[in-house]
Amino acid sequence: MRVFLAGATGAIGKQLVPRLVEAGHEVHGMTRSESKQAMLHELGAVPVVADALDPDQVAEAVGRARPDVIVHQLTAIGAVDLRHFDRDFALTNRLRTEGTDHLLSAGQAVGVRRFVAQGVGGYGAYARTGGPVKTEEDPLDPTPARGMRETLAAIRHLEEAVLGARWTEGIVLRYGVFYGPGTSMAPGEEQFELVRRRKFPLVGDGGGVWSFIHVADAAEATVAAVERGSRGVYNVVDDDPAPVAKWLPTLAQELGAKKPMRVPRVIGRLFAGEAGVVMMTDVRGASNAKAKRELGWRPAHPSWRDGFAAA
Ligand SMILES: NC(=O)c1ccc[n+]([C@@H]2O[C@H](COP(=O)([O-])OP(=O)(O)OC[C@H]3O[C@@H](n4cnc5c(N)ncnc54)[C@H](OP(=O)(O)O)[C@@H]3O)[C@@H](O)[C@H]2O)c1
Repeated sequence: MRVFLAGATGAIGKQLVPRLVEAGHEVHGMTRSESKQAMLHELGAVPVVADALDPDQVAEAVGRARPDVIVHQLTAIGAVDLRHFDRDFALTNRLRTEGTDHLLSAGQAVGVRRFVAQGVGGYGAYARTGGPVKTEEDPLDPTPARGMRETLAAIRHLEEAVLGARWTEGIVLRYGVFYGPGTSMAPGEEQFELVRRRKFPLVGDGGGVWSFIHVADAAEATVAAVERGSRGVYNVVDDDPAPVAKWLPTLAQELGAKKPMRVPRVIGRLFAGEAGVVMMTDVRGASNAKAKRELGWRPAHPSWRDGFAAA
């Protein structure tokens, strides 16, 4: 198939291009930068330069590629100050709203048969009520923490737009928290360094449940969704949702760091805002049963425990 990949140069995009090519697909990889064309070429993609926030550029790029499938992996996360979560996600939120709409319009114009988009399963998209591990049937958070409302609204927009596009097979992959090469959770990178330098404290009871996914496993699941996904949502997470109180000390030990500091919620709120406290104490994890069953996918790193050690 011909696959148009928006976000081809990012953490997941770089894993995805070679896998799609290896599986026999012709990949048109989008970037804003002329200078990243050579890298995309080397990965095996046809480079396409366009700004995802410019509807004319997107329409022209997709029109020229005439893909069978569009994959939307656009984000602009960068460094996030948890006290200003929505502010720091503002550009990502635009990519999830305007960017999604532009790609959908362009895809409809050329009649793509599948539209696969990046959703969120790993850091607080699910409602914070009921059990610790959520399936795709469970609702997204109707009352997000203050500071995360715009981000959750953008995620909701993306999901509704993609799943509501009845002219195509709209698929949302709710990825767990990425770790591994090219992500901020890798040796020497931001999050691992915070843990190593004991600057990632355990807030309150550390009861927030996180679902992780090795970025290579996320890419494998995405190839499966491109080839045989059906309209709907799939959690793309590992087999081992775990509370912060479990994974954070394990990661610290793995990195040879001292045990994470423990701080009460009220102190946590001062330096991580409400969004940070919610992520540490209250978020829910996700189940990958549907992705395994329907996509025939299995993560090569079934648990973050082995995955972190391997990383
Ligand atoms: N589930 C998760 O845990 C999750 C999800 C996403 C990201 N992250 C993490 O966030 C960190 C930073 O990621 P990031 O958000 O900076 O993403 P990234 O991994 O660098 O990828 C962003 C992609 O979006 C493209 N892009 C952004 N704005 C664009 C625009 N206006 N027009 C066209 N393309 C555009 C970029 O292309 P160009 O820059 O080449 O134009 C790039 O290919 C990484 O550590 C990653 O692991 C985690």
